[in-house]
Amino acid sequence: MADNIIREEILSFTSKAASYNIIVLKTVNSTNSYTKELAKGNASHETVVIADKQTDGRGRLGREFFSPEGTGIYMSVLLKPESLALDPSLLTVAAGVAVCRTINSISKNTPSIKWVNDIFFGGKKVCGILAESTTDSKTGTINNIIVGIGLNVTTPSNVFPGKLGEIAGSLFPKNTTRNEIIAKIIEEFKSIYDSKNAEKLIEEYKSYSCVLGKKISFTKCGETFAGIATDINIEGNLIVKLENGESVILKSGEVSLGSENFAR
Ligand code: BTN
Repeated sequence: MADNIIREEILSFTSKAASYNIIVLKTVNSTNSYTKELAKGNASHETVVIADKQTDGRGRLGREFFSPEGTGIYMSVLLKPESLALDPSLLTVAAGVAVCRTINSISKNTPSIKWVNDIFFGGKKVCGILAESTTDSKTGTINNIIVGIGLNVTTPSNVFPGKLGEIAGSLFPKNTTRNEIIAKIIEEFKSIYDSKNAEKLIEEYKSYSCVLGKKISFTKCGETFAGIATDINIEGNLIVKLENGESVILKSGEVSLGSENFAR
């Protein structure tokens, strides 16, 4: 099935996306970087930039996001904080849930989320989310939020370079084009951030979590800690009960979990 990313086709799959300004590019360094530049001009709330390939796709913690041509979805959504019903700090959680709902709607298998926003499917990471913001130089307040979503759709396992091949995988959906998947993500994401209901969102996010109740480890100031992930609070922070009995709240960063726990 031909699977070119085409703006009109994306729009044909959803009514809500009609309010979006969708920009489709063949190749770009990074849709997040491109969208950030647009945001410095006059780009509007709900501008969506999608590329078929990224030459400098960026992940969290300064990592690269492998973004080969024709087999993935690399998209960034520009949002204005004042136009959101949802607390902006929950946008990565919201994007994670939107992607999981989308995967659920096109597949019999359920995805899972490794806090904070790595999405696993069939034991492999298929999606990462990178939220960035810009601030108003005069007031110092956040004036743009760019939520970047990278989803491996049909990237063959032997194409991922080096050790990435052990961790990363693809969705391989049946009879579903990237245009349909993009439309669904956009629609689900919008339905979440247009709602104020953080409790409901966190409950749904927790239902996808593959870390809750599991032994995890994380590094802070060069020291490694281990404990059980006991809860995710209303702010999307991870609560971890350490081996010494103390509970800590993780607001950002990354946790590690045995790979056998990723499969659902
Ligand atoms: C991660 O896994 O650490 C996050 C990866 C985020 C990748 C997406 S792809 C679209 C957008 N543009 C980027 O350069 N990064 C994000």
